Amino acid sequence: MFDEIIDRSNTNALKLERYKEYKNAIPAWVADMDFKSPECVIDALKERVKHGVFGYTAISGELIEAIINFIKKEHGWNTSKEWFTFTSGVVASMNIVCGMLRENESTITTTPIYPYFLSAPKNMKRQVETVRMREINNRWGIDFDEFEKSIKPNCRLLLLCNPYNPGGTVFTKEELLKIGEIAIKYDLLICSDEIHADLVLDKNAKHVPIASLSTEIADRTITLMAPSKTFNIAGLQNSFAITQNKKLKAAFENSMGHINGGVNLLALTAAKAAYENGAVWLKEVKEYLRENLKLVQEFVQNNPSLKLLKLEATYLAWIDCRTLGENAWQLFLNGGVILNEGKSFGDGGEGFVRLNFAMPKEVLKEVLARMEKVMRSI
Ligand SMILES: Cc1ncc(COP(=O)(O)O)c(C=O)c1O
Repeated sequence: MFDEIIDRSNTNALKLERYKEYKNAIPAWVADMDFKSPECVIDALKERVKHGVFGYTAISGELIEAIINFIKKEHGWNTSKEWFTFTSGVVASMNIVCGMLRENESTITTTPIYPYFLSAPKNMKRQVETVRMREINNRWGIDFDEFEKSIKPNCRLLLLCNPYNPGGTVFTKEELLKIGEIAIKYDLLICSDEIHADLVLDKNAKHVPIASLSTEIADRTITLMAPSKTFNIAGLQNSFAITQNKKLKAAFENSMGHINGGVNLLALTAAKAAYENGAVWLKEVKEYLRENLKLVQEFVQNNPSLKLLKLEATYLAWIDCRTLGENAWQLFLNGGVILNEGKSFGDGGEGFVRLNFAMPKEVLKEVLARMEKVMRSI
């Protein structure tokens, strides 16, 4: 099923549009998959479109129930329907959370990081402090002493990315407890972006929602999740914030106001179908992604000047190309592969590229062959 090569041209796919001038280059950058969404999602959308009336829409209790059941089953976290706020996207939610701070308050996050972690505070005119992720036992991790030292007195918000984009780390329960402990000690609000939670590939890793660890941590946490990465429906724009603390939830909704607009009815239709009936597809896509990851790992092993640390989750490989100089991204682009440029992920990203391997195997093999050719030409 995932071997099917689907032509995405003439669909305004961002992945293709942004680098149109590189005509024959293969896009392996922005984080969506080149696979069809689950059949149940496609069927539900067709059915809804057939109805023909697309007026303002309310969130259905059935959708929330489907999400609650899914989160319980996938992550063992008991959530409750009163905790949910729907937004058009996780990035929108992150901006809303940053807007909850006072103007002289700041945020802290780790870098390199998904670029919107750095732009959201800036958009809302809040400062952002950063701490570098470190290579710890062949995996991207946090140096907690350094982290603690970087917290300024006016810091009020910790922006956490778990699983971590771009490094692919799934933080362990112990690591998350440590993060929670620090947040409590310095009285920080935690905004936990868990959009990649359902895409854990390493069978020894398990996603733990930080808010599930204790009431004390949950009390200061806003968790952001979405069906968009999980079921490949990012273009439909839908996500939700889960906040147990009523006051915090009210503050989030107050910060949101009506800026985020209403909800997209087709996104809700897709989300409900996906959470109710998409689990088998999800299991299969993860199997496929594991095989693809192996191909990427083999490519890196065959090119010892490159490096890829253990990738536990996401379909995004964060490849260290620093030995190639600062323009590795451009070299691969010239060689016909469009990757994400490491430096757009902030401090520590220079000389890295991010490869999205969620594509049919034949295409991935061509991507890797082109990258291999670039390596041989250096
Ligand atoms: C960590 C992370 N957060 C958020 C997003 C985007 O979320 P949304 O499309 O819901 O704004 C992405 C997409 O790549 C991501 O990797």
